[in-house]
Amino acid sequence: MIVDRLGRKFSNLRVSLTAACNYACTYCVPDGKRLMKAQNELGADQLLRAVTLLRQATGIDKVRITGGEPLVTPKFDEFLLGVMDLGLSDVSLTTNGQLLPAKKEVIAESGLQRINISLDTLNSLKFKQIARGGDLETVLKGIDDMLELGLKIKVNMVPMRSQNFNEIVPMLDYCLDRGIELRFIELMRMGHLLGDSGFQADFISMEALLDEIGTQYEFSRTHAPYDSTAARFAIRGRGNFGIIANESEPFCRTCTRLRLSSDGYLYGCLSNARRHDLSEVLEMPGHQALPRLQNVLLDALGDKKLAFQGEVTVMKFIGG
Ligand code: 5AD
Repeated sequence: MIVDRLGRKFSNLRVSLTAACNYACTYCVPDGKRLMKAQNELGADQLLRAVTLLRQATGIDKVRITGGEPLVTPKFDEFLLGVMDLGLSDVSLTTNGQLLPAKKEVIAESGLQRINISLDTLNSLKFKQIARGGDLETVLKGIDDMLELGLKIKVNMVPMRSQNFNEIVPMLDYCLDRGIELRFIELMRMGHLLGDSGFQADFISMEALLDEIGTQYEFSRTHAPYDSTAARFAIRGRGNFGIIANESEPFCRTCTRLRLSSDGYLYGCLSNARRHDLSEVLEMPGHQALPRLQNVLLDALGDKKLAFQGEVTVMKFIGG
């Protein structure tokens, strides 16, 4: 077992299928830019081999499929069906939801049970301003489709003072009405937001969020797992919501996440640009690959910081 001095180990793998995205959200992508595929993205078979090896090397049994936007790549279907066949204890998917109606069938076929859908507003004009791609109506249809399949849904919302402050309560209403857990993600200093004066102006702290929710709802703090990134709250008789309070309540000290980029690099920490090329390991037979991978993982675990310091290398390629 590979463990660091804080007792942190890797138990949670996030696999980015592609760096490409059909949105260009203001907090993720600078004006005028779009996220493109990485140059040498791995195929579904190579990504699945990486997952298998990482599992053998670390005991990881939870995988989240991310991007970019994972539904835009043709390898999504093969990867999803393949990863569901591995018998992991938990598989989930993070998506912007735009292609969920188109992927409803393969998701049903795969047996996937959990999904996180990013949605920052219920106003279609505002949607276009924030996401700069896609449309609200299709995402709402996608959410309905997933509810119909019986998936457990979380919605991720990034609240920003100048954009969607007045939608904090309406978004919560929408989610509570449907048995969806809403996760507010405190704006993070990623990519171009690092050193941007707009960051401070738009940032809404956990305290400010709870004040706003408190105007409509009574809630109490509730249980969250040890390595959860979210503070969770219960509204009696209605459901739960969470806050991923990267600034207000940092969670680096219990982080168990390991990230694999679409072009085959491991990242041990979202706040560290260091990465570890897996291409050689993936070419080796298992008995050689595993010991080599153990060394890489030890190195990657050492990349974990004690606190999030802001990072330019971005969430966007490796899916948060
Ligand atoms: N701050 C907070 N959340 C972000 N996300 C992407 N970039 C940022 C940022 N700078 C969110 C997306 C998605 C999740 C994976 O991360 O909206 O829901």
